[in-house]
Formats: sequence, C-alpha cells, structure tokens
Amino acid sequence: MKKDPLGEVYLSAEQIQDRVKELGKMISATYQDKELVLLGILKGSFVFMADLVRNIKIPHSLDFMAISSYEGVGGSPEAVKILKDLDESITGKHVVIVEDIIDTGLTLGYLIRHLEARNPASINVCTLLDRSIRRIVPLPISFTGFDIPDVFVVGYGMDYRQLYRNLPSLYLCDVTA
Ligand code: IMP
Ligand code: MG
Repeated sequence: MKKDPLGEVYLSAEQIQDRVKELGKMISATYQDKELVLLGILKGSFVFMADLVRNIKIPHSLDFMAISSYEGVGGSPEAVKILKDLDESITGKHVVIVEDIIDTGLTLGYLIRHLEARNPASINVCTLLDRSIRRIVPLPISFTGFDIPDVFVVGYGMDYRQLYRNLPSLYLCDVTA
C-alpha cells in the first residue's frame, strides 16, 4: 500500500494569517502614493495572493504570470519559458512579485532580468517562505513571511504532484513516500 506523504503541521493557518496581515501592512506603508502592481507567479502563489491583497489597504492592481523553468545541466534552469505573460504593461510602475517559496532563486532571478527590460519603476519580491540556505542567485526580497530550513512543505497553494494546494495550513511532506 502507498504511504501517505503528508506529515505534521509546519505552520498553522492562524500563524500564516497573522504574518500575511503584517506583510500587507508593510507593503501598504512602503508603496503609499505609488503606482503598485502585485505580480503573482502561478500556480503556487494563488492562495497567498488572495489573502495578501485583502490585507493591502492602498490602491493597487494585480496580474499573474505562469512560467516553467527548463532543467539544464546539473538540474539548474537554463531559461525560463513564459507560459502566460502579463496582461498589463509594468513600465513606470512599482512591481512586487508574489511567490509561494523561493529556493535557489534561479527561476525568479531569470524572470526579474526579463522584467527589468520592460522598465518598471522598481521590482521587489514578497515571498511567503524563504529557504534562504539554498539560495544561489541573490534576489531583492523585501518582504518575507517565514525563513524555512531544507524541508519540503505543501498546502496554502503549494503542491506535491499537484495535490494539497487546498489545505489552509502548511504541512511537512515526505517526497520519498
Ligand atoms: P527555485 O527558487 O527556482 O529553486 O524554485 C522555487 C520553486 O520550486 C517554488 O516557486 C515552488 O514552485 C517550488 N518549490 C520549492 N520548494 C517547494 C516546497 O517545499 N513545496 C512545494 N513547492 C516547492
Ligand atoms: Mg512557484
């Protein structure tokens, strides 16, 4: 029989909501009187995005991109393929990329270089989880929910083989199960 990969709760729904509230406050204060666009990276960020925007008290627009990273030699993505591009122009606007979790940063580093060519006023990153010990590419992460060690987690938009995105809490997940 197949073992259930779902482990114990890593961060409860309540812990996540408290932190998302704080992140919303920080973003509201930072971008007061600026033209702000929140850019969610599909699919993992969709739950975080939905909660985050309800805690941002200044006017802003939002957009989504879907990207797939190509696995290059040694497992590092060589190029990012854009599966769904932005709907609106970001030229002259302040962009905050919203991510579920940042690991090596390879995919996002590539995407930021790509977006910079469109001349936004600024680009920053807001990530719910930062596995900073694995970072290869330095990124402008101004808003971090939680720093996490090298454990695999699911829930709150994040998946293992496309499952568990619906769970309101974050759970440890045994990817060898
Ligand atoms: P990287 O920063 O380019 O190495 O890749 C980060 C991406 O890998 C995230 O946006 C997630 O989609 C995925 N990912 C990394 N760690 C986890 C995890 O613990 N659970 C679910 N997805 C993960
Ligand atoms: Mg992702």
